[in-house]
Amino acid sequence: MADRRIWWERLAAHKQRLDGVRTTDIFASEPDRMVQLSEVVGDTCFDFSKHKIDQSALKALLAFAADTGLQHRIDELFAGAVVNPSERRPALHAALRAAEQRQVGATDVPAFEAARQSATQTLEQCRQLVDTLRRQFGDDGFDVVHVGIGGSELGPKLCLEALTHPRSTDPVRVHYVGNVDAHPVDHLLATLDPHRTVVCLVSKSFGTQETLTNGAILRRWLEASLGPELAATRLVAITANPARAIRYGIGASQVLPIWDWVGGRYSVWSAVSLSTMLALGYERFAEFLAGAEAMDLHFRMAPFVRNVPVLMALVGVWSRNVLGLPGHCVVPYDERLRHLPAFLQQLEMESNGKSVAADGSQIGHATVPIIWGGVGSATQHAFFQALHQGELANVVEFIGAVTPAHDHDASHKALMANMLAQSSALLHGRQTDDADPALRAQRECPGDRPSTTILLPELSPFTLGLLLAAYEHKVFVQSVLWGNNAFDQWGVELGKQLADELLPLIDGGAIPDTVDASTRLLIGRVRGL
Ligand code: F6P
Repeated sequence: MADRRIWWERLAAHKQRLDGVRTTDIFASEPDRMVQLSEVVGDTCFDFSKHKIDQSALKALLAFAADTGLQHRIDELFAGAVVNPSERRPALHAALRAAEQRQVGATDVPAFEAARQSATQTLEQCRQLVDTLRRQFGDDGFDVVHVGIGGSELGPKLCLEALTHPRSTDPVRVHYVGNVDAHPVDHLLATLDPHRTVVCLVSKSFGTQETLTNGAILRRWLEASLGPELAATRLVAITANPARAIRYGIGASQVLPIWDWVGGRYSVWSAVSLSTMLALGYERFAEFLAGAEAMDLHFRMAPFVRNVPVLMALVGVWSRNVLGLPGHCVVPYDERLRHLPAFLQQLEMESNGKSVAADGSQIGHATVPIIWGGVGSATQHAFFQALHQGELANVVEFIGAVTPAHDHDASHKALMANMLAQSSALLHGRQTDDADPALRAQRECPGDRPSTTILLPELSPFTLGLLLAAYEHKVFVQSVLWGNNAFDQWGVELGKQLADELLPLIDGGAIPDTVDASTRLLIGRVRGL
């Protein structure tokens, strides 16, 4: 592979060539632009045409991708090779959704097939547990407390919020407890009946302080009403560390496995989502898996020039590394996707928020942008001002669903019109004819600001699975283009270690000289108050 600096220079030449051109000019000069820069997968349209990329720049981006050995790296990913060298692990989250063996070329790969079989067996355990619990509690239903954080919370929470029908009267209600701040769990327990509550303790490591602390509160709460034996039947653990869960006091038959070959932020397809299966029913969860598998097939089969995750990744690299845009703003125009920005913050920034390559060398160029966002149309009345007239442009990614799950037609048409208007306004900007040049300058919008629009036919388990899988593969492709390991997260270890060291000091005792003056002062105030 040519040194990436050579590629940054080549791509920068395309940027310079386009500096005097507006994106709208490229639309005019490339009549087949929409064919080249929009793709439909599973009835979902991915429109990249509002980015300032012409055919020549796209060709250069595709050549860069090919030069990184991307195809080989994709093949390695699906073959169960060690794509996470610092932890010496594969990343086989695609095997979690290959239940129907529709993965082309994966059947003859032993590591993939073994992973698929483990996943299929565990999903069957989940299905049986869902069936048992729903029958046990009957039509009055029950409450599920999902205890987990990061990848052990964000994916399941996003799915449940996205797929619960607004008028759902389903008898299973799920509540999430993630933060070690006990205000939410304290408030929640005051509203629940321990006789009708199941607790899912979700932790791949079964060593996360927040989850174990919250788990202890839930277990004490259950035991106070049910006694230890019955309480034990209401505690389910989902973990890659069953021995720790059993030592913690979870019955061996109440432990569902996940595996080291699934990263936490890639685990929504596994038993981590047991609470979602309990609430939505297993069949809808299976549809979610099928949507992801459809995107896996597209990702493996489509040529890069028509490959949605590859195009998402290349457009992102163009924006981040060539245009130097610092932020990527995710704006779902659908309240049901309100947790998507938070989910993508972890998926993208914990995967690619790195500055050292897999071989230990300094990466020396930008990697993941700041991932942020909020729900439209409310965000038009919050931060869109900065997106239209701020000094630093951001890439904006709009996500909408054509068919709503309600019959308020006028509202949905307004929502769609607002989403399309915003991406159009970012593209065109606004020139005014105010006589006063100062006023004119303040009222004008520069435009020429990039956005992607993703239009789902409807928000269903299938389309949500397809969308999230596209993001997972985009993140992997970008890690290849940037040269970092997408699947480890050493940066979070230091904070956890320091928290463990500081915890006893909150109670009292001598503060070691190694503790800096600021932390020392703050500990003093925490103690004093
Ligand atoms: O943020 C670090 C991290 O390890 C994430 O990768 C993970 O999703 C989260 O903490 C929770 O970890 P666990 O599932 O092991 O409790």
